[in-house]
Amino acid sequence: MSEEGLPARRAALALLDAVLRQGRTLDSAAQGVKLPPNDAGLAVAIAGETLRRLPDLDSAIDSATRQRLPDDSKARMVLRLALAQKVGLGTPDHALVATALPLVAGGPRRLVHGVLGTLLRRGIVLPEAPTLPAEVEERWASAWGEDMVLAARRAIGHRPPLDLSFAHDEGAQAYPLGTSLAPRHRRLAEAGNVPELPGFGDGGWWVQDLASSLPARLIPDDARNVVDLCAAPGGKTMQLAAAGHRITAVDRSESRLARLKENLGRTGLIADLVPADALTWSPPRAFDAILLDAPCSATGTFRRHPEVLYRARPSVIGDSAELQARLLDRASAMLKPGGVLVYAVCSLEPAEGEDVIAAFLARAPRFRVAPPVAGELPDGVTPSPEGWARVLPGMLEPAGGLDGFFVARLVGAPA
Ligand SMILES: C[S@@+](CC[C@H](N)C(=O)[O-])C[C@H]1O[C@@H](n2cnc3c(N)ncnc32)[C@H](O)[C@@H]1O
Repeated sequence: MSEEGLPARRAALALLDAVLRQGRTLDSAAQGVKLPPNDAGLAVAIAGETLRRLPDLDSAIDSATRQRLPDDSKARMVLRLALAQKVGLGTPDHALVATALPLVAGGPRRLVHGVLGTLLRRGIVLPEAPTLPAEVEERWASAWGEDMVLAARRAIGHRPPLDLSFAHDEGAQAYPLGTSLAPRHRRLAEAGNVPELPGFGDGGWWVQDLASSLPARLIPDDARNVVDLCAAPGGKTMQLAAAGHRITAVDRSESRLARLKENLGRTGLIADLVPADALTWSPPRAFDAILLDAPCSATGTFRRHPEVLYRARPSVIGDSAELQARLLDRASAMLKPGGVLVYAVCSLEPAEGEDVIAAFLARAPRFRVAPPVAGELPDGVTPSPEGWARVLPGMLEPAGGLDGFFVARLVGAPA
């Protein structure tokens, strides 16, 4: 292998370090990769593949050496990257070795060479459905049961489909690709290059997981003034604007709000943008409906962002739940009597979903849950007995599955 392959592997190593040791997201770390697009893409693909299969890669590594390699040691990181390329990307053995060893030059080169040689000779067989980190499997098994964990393993082993949300249902029905699983929706089996998909330039659709489109579907059609309190980058704002609401989009991140503005520009949809912290913002008027798509651990997006499985430590989930409760209290004070408040998180943690709503209802008894009615959720997603929508791995699995989500619609008492 020429020197050509090395920069991408070096970048993959830096990405893995940024995610696992510095707690960054793969997307944000990838923005710092200064390489030609092909190499940068390869680096992200290697790091992503590694994160998707980390526990199984570690078991393979441990089976080939008596030495206990620390989790964050360079030797383990380089071996993980090399094996991920072998099993996930089909990289030839000679290229794996030639690009792994320079990464440990001046360090544990012999050890890495030895472990890699042993595993390549022996053959690396990993489970078809990747094992998740042990603490995540334990947490999810106790919250949702073993079947959910098995479904989550299967989900992370497959490339998720690409969901498009359309401004108008006619656009979705007429779209030449994929299938429709709900109004204003189209699912494509393969992601591909989004800007090259038919109609991208026309702005009639945007990328949005079907589960992520559920919260806005629960805002009543007749709510005129609606606020989206954690709005950027704007998938739900665009749904609400397209549905004809007068929408105010608040977000405290100016850079994310700039992306929302770009998205509105491309789709030709209109919203009032407010850069503000929802905890301290004083709205000029009360709203008919509020969408609170709160910041969370994002564990529901583990198929696309496997690093969330490593970032969502119990302390992170606890801090997040505290912020969600404060945002919910603040949001409820912005609502007209009888108004609708939809709370959503892309999380598979009950602490950020069910528990937040149960505690809110206990301290704000003027609110009640208004369960989704027929036609508001796609077939295959049924409301829980409590009246909220809990989307878990395994739902719609034959059609490509869904991101994990929690959505509750609350209605305030009339005046
Ligand atoms: C889950 S994302 C929202 C995704 C968005 N609703 C969509 O559909 O594209 C959460 C957002 O909340 C914003 N955020 C976090 N804390 C906030 C706060 N206190 N006030 C306003 N926005 C906040 C973040 O900047 C982030 O953009």
